[in-house]
Amino acid sequence: MISPSEKIKNLPPYLFGAIDILKANAFRKKLDVIDLAMGNPDLPTDPSIVERLIDTVKNHPRTHRYPQAKGMPKFRLALANWYKRRFGVNLNPETEAAALIGSKEGIAHLCQAYLDSGDVVLVPNPCYPVHLNSVILAGGEPYMMPLVKENGYIPVLSEIPENIRRRAKIMILNYPNNPTGVVIEDLKFLEDAVEFAKKYGIIIVYDNAYCEITYDGYVAPSFLQVKGAMGVGIEVGSFSKTYNMAGWRIGWAVGNSEVISTLSKYKSYIDYGVSTFIQLAAVKALELPAEKIRQTVAEYERRMDFFIKKLKSIGWIIEKPKATMYLWAKIPPPYAAMPSLEFAELLIESTGIAVTPGSGFGTYGEGFVRMAMVTHYRRFHDAYLRLKKFLSGKGRGR
Ligand SMILES: Cc1ncc(COP(=O)(O)O)c(C=O)c1O
Repeated sequence: MISPSEKIKNLPPYLFGAIDILKANAFRKKLDVIDLAMGNPDLPTDPSIVERLIDTVKNHPRTHRYPQAKGMPKFRLALANWYKRRFGVNLNPETEAAALIGSKEGIAHLCQAYLDSGDVVLVPNPCYPVHLNSVILAGGEPYMMPLVKENGYIPVLSEIPENIRRRAKIMILNYPNNPTGVVIEDLKFLEDAVEFAKKYGIIIVYDNAYCEITYDGYVAPSFLQVKGAMGVGIEVGSFSKTYNMAGWRIGWAVGNSEVISTLSKYKSYIDYGVSTFIQLAAVKALELPAEKIRQTVAEYERRMDFFIKKLKSIGWIIEKPKATMYLWAKIPPPYAAMPSLEFAELLIESTGIAVTPGSGFGTYGEGFVRMAMVTHYRRFHDAYLRLKKFLSGKGRGR
């Protein structure tokens, strides 16, 4: 067999691929799996968005043609209007906005567009795996920035060695953060990051996929609200979580015009962008009243509050995050010393509950598991009963 490239060989195993195997084994054993592993929203896309798609596909055959790689003007304008309304950020829709086939695609292609072999990218640890894997696939060299509790899960820029700063081309930041659920409380860190990026000639890629999934009055900022941000970076965003459109594959990049132009150029060689009818449906999403998003958030919160309370009653203490639909949970006693992958395996085998091992997000994720609130409310009661049995050591929890 012909061997795949070193880049492919250097990739860590795809996290959700490994979890899929565990789930498939559990299904084979006829376990009733409660799937809290992947951040794959279970709520349906709003019917008005679905209607817009159907109407467009049916009645506007021009939308069946190739789209523009950077997105159609109508989509970019709707996005710019949304940024103005939501964040007070002014964008030139012609030069400072692009459609992506999901933010995952944009991050990966941006790395391809900017990295030569050995270029350094500053990546948080733990991180959404795509932040690391995109760098490896582009032949770049990741430098991992630890996110630890003592520093509020925010990278300490002063700890990055001088030679790394000089070689770094991109810094990836992600708040509200996957997997920890941590948010930016004030803009000081982002202001420092902008200064740092300016000084060392680094592009900041700010992943704001969870900006609308927030609780208890927290309102997430846009990176582009920070003074000077437009000069050094871009923000990527997603329809997947805010509008329950994960399968539609649409997101965006906004910000520095040079970076947007380079990314769009790269994309025009590789893909044709997002189908026009999906872009038009996404325009409908951007026009939805904020109440629709609040309903989605309220449902995640209802599940989360219930689960946290129930797990507390059996001694598994989990902090409620200010954002995301994830619980970032320390592995409970008596398993606290067990590697998270082993714990996740034991959990699914013993209880049918699928969670994501923290180590899959990076070495600093060890000791934790991530649980996504993406299944029906009632299932959290089932999950609690199984965990109660499991943690008390009385039987296998099923
Ligand atoms: C931090 C973060 N960024 C991006 C994405 C991917 O979003 P999209 O569906 O827009 O590609 C995810 C998905 O889980 C995520 O957690």
